Amino acid sequence: MPTLFLHFFLFLFTTTVTNLIPVVHSNYIEAQQQSLLHFKKSLDVTHSNPTKLITWNSSTDCCSWLGVTCSTNGRVVGLDLSGEHFSNRNIDNSSSLFQLQHLQSLNLAYNNFLGSSIPSAIEKLANLRYLNLSEAFFFWANSH
Ligand SMILES: *[C@@H]1O[C@H](CO)[C@@H](O)[C@H](O)[C@H]1NC(C)=O
Ligand SMILES: *[C@@H]1O[C@H](CO)[C@@H](O)[C@H](O)[C@H]1NC(C)=O
Ligand SMILES: *[C@@H]1O[C@H](CO)[C@@H](O)[C@H](O)[C@H]1NC(C)=O
Repeated sequence: MPTLFLHFFLFLFTTTVTNLIPVVHSNYIEAQQQSLLHFKKSLDVTHSNPTKLITWNSSTDCCSWLGVTCSTNGRVVGLDLSGEHFSNRNIDNSSSLFQLQHLQSLNLAYNNFLGSSIPSAIEKLANLRYLNLSEAFFFWANSH
């Protein structure tokens, strides 16, 4: 009798967990898409002619957008927005960019951050291995 119960609970547990995983997964995919769209909204492209950002819209999966690289399980691991010539004065610790926890590579070269400081929230990107801020007009605070 107790083994029957155990099997029943195991069955219940495994079906619940396997049903839950795709939900958690798709919530994450949805959240990172929103983070990217939110970041795009903060960029001023009035004096530029972006070639990658124009493909960023909510009707397609963000993994198919130009400049976005995803892992096989749909995590955004790379962002290359170099040469889009956007400007952004207001990047701060609350930027949705810093919610992309799986980001390994970030290239913002050849854009104009108009002398903003690099937000310390960039430290939240614990997996970041490549960061390119060439000609991005960040202000480098001399803290050392
Ligand atoms: C969204 O992007 C796709 C792919 O670049 C494009 O074909 C489509 O027209 C865009 N949709 C809107 C509403 O901008
Ligand atoms: C980010 O937050 C830190 C404290 O956590 C603060 O010292 C810093 O000035 C903030 N930087 C920006 C650019 O908002
Ligand atoms: C930084 O990015 C620019 C534009 O993509 C590229 O030309 C340059 O080689 C990169 N620099 C490094 C050190 O990767």
